[in-house]
Amino acid sequence: MIHARGLTRRFTVKRKVVEAVRGLDLDVEQGQLVAFLGPNGAGKSTSLRMLTTLLPPTSGTATVAGRDIAADPDGVRARIGYVGQSSGAGEQFRAGDELVAQGYAYGLTRREARRRAAEVMDMLDLTPLAARRPSTMSGGQRRRLDIALGLIHRPPLLFLDEPTTGLDPHTRADVWQHILRLREQYGMTLFLTTHYLEEADSMAERVVVIDHGRVIADGTAARLKGDLAGDRVTLTAHDPADTARAAATAGRVFGADRVAVENGAVRVRVPRADAALPELLRVLEGEGVRVATAETARPTLDDVFLALTGRTLREAEAEGAGAAEGTEGADAARPTTAQPAAASAAAPEGDRA
Ligand SMILES: Nc1ncnc2c1ncn2[C@@H]1O[C@H](COP(=O)(O)OP(=O)(O)OP(=O)(O)O)[C@@H](O)[C@H]1O
Ligand SMILES: [Mg+2]
Repeated sequence: MIHARGLTRRFTVKRKVVEAVRGLDLDVEQGQLVAFLGPNGAGKSTSLRMLTTLLPPTSGTATVAGRDIAADPDGVRARIGYVGQSSGAGEQFRAGDELVAQGYAYGLTRREARRRAAEVMDMLDLTPLAARRPSTMSGGQRRRLDIALGLIHRPPLLFLDEPTTGLDPHTRADVWQHILRLREQYGMTLFLTTHYLEEADSMAERVVVIDHGRVIADGTAARLKGDLAGDRVTLTAHDPADTARAAATAGRVFGADRVAVENGAVRVRVPRADAALPELLRVLEGEGVRVATAETARPTLDDVFLALTGRTLREAEAEGAGAAEGTEGADAARPTTAQPAAASAAAPEGDRA
């Protein structure tokens, strides 16, 4: 569904070159649900916008849904849906009309557009809201409408840029339920970005982590956590004077680079905490170190990010917060729903591309 090689995008803002995406290589199989994860300014949206033909790459190539993004952008757009980072629905049109208009924009006849609008509203539980305007909807309802707009032309591949950002936990769960259903019931391929590590961890079968424009990890969440972060054993010595000796002992058993002392506790990264803990306790006992407390923890994706970059995702977010605001010429007016070439003529309203 997606094959990208060396996709790169640079922006020049006030004579300063920003390398937003550097050499993205990516292969996504049909039916996969891939979460694209990374801090603010990492290059997620820029990658998505290149793959959806909204932004030409500086260099590199990609085929998306079987079409080349440079040679056949219309072919790509006809076969994909794109739900942008901000809402794509106009405020003053009723949801049902908006969906039908989007159908026209994709070249459906009036009847087909109506039928398809009814279908996607059903898929996303929007039927009771057909006569409502987006301005009167809740955040989750609007996001579901955005997704419906991206699906009107039955694309086999859907890109979603932060579908759940800014929603409360209950609404996030609801939007996720609808996203998962698209995959299970309709076999769609889904490629989405998120800041929420727990979401990526529990929902996506594959996680791609991007930082400073480069992919730094790619795999199942379980594998990334196992390979890169590992489980943790944290223990404290009964006598604080024994802490250093406990750390040295743990280092001899598991490797010094896996051991750290933090706030008076010895922290050890191990492949399997349940197996490592009894062994560690035995060895420490042999050394005459009395252990006061011991606990084990499974890694999170944040531990993976920390292991890869030396900083937590939250720290990375904070440092990127100021940097992610540049705009450059025509890119500022970004369409939030992928449109076929003729869409601007056919769409009833200038808000969308
Ligand atoms: N149109 C543009 N003009 C100039 N710089 C840009 C433009 N779009 C993106 N950038 C820069 O490229 C980098 C990557 O931005 P991008 O929007 O891809 O990040 P992101 O991972 O989607 O971040 P966020 O999580 O905040 O949405 C940032 O440094 C950003 O400032
Ligand atoms: Mg973004």
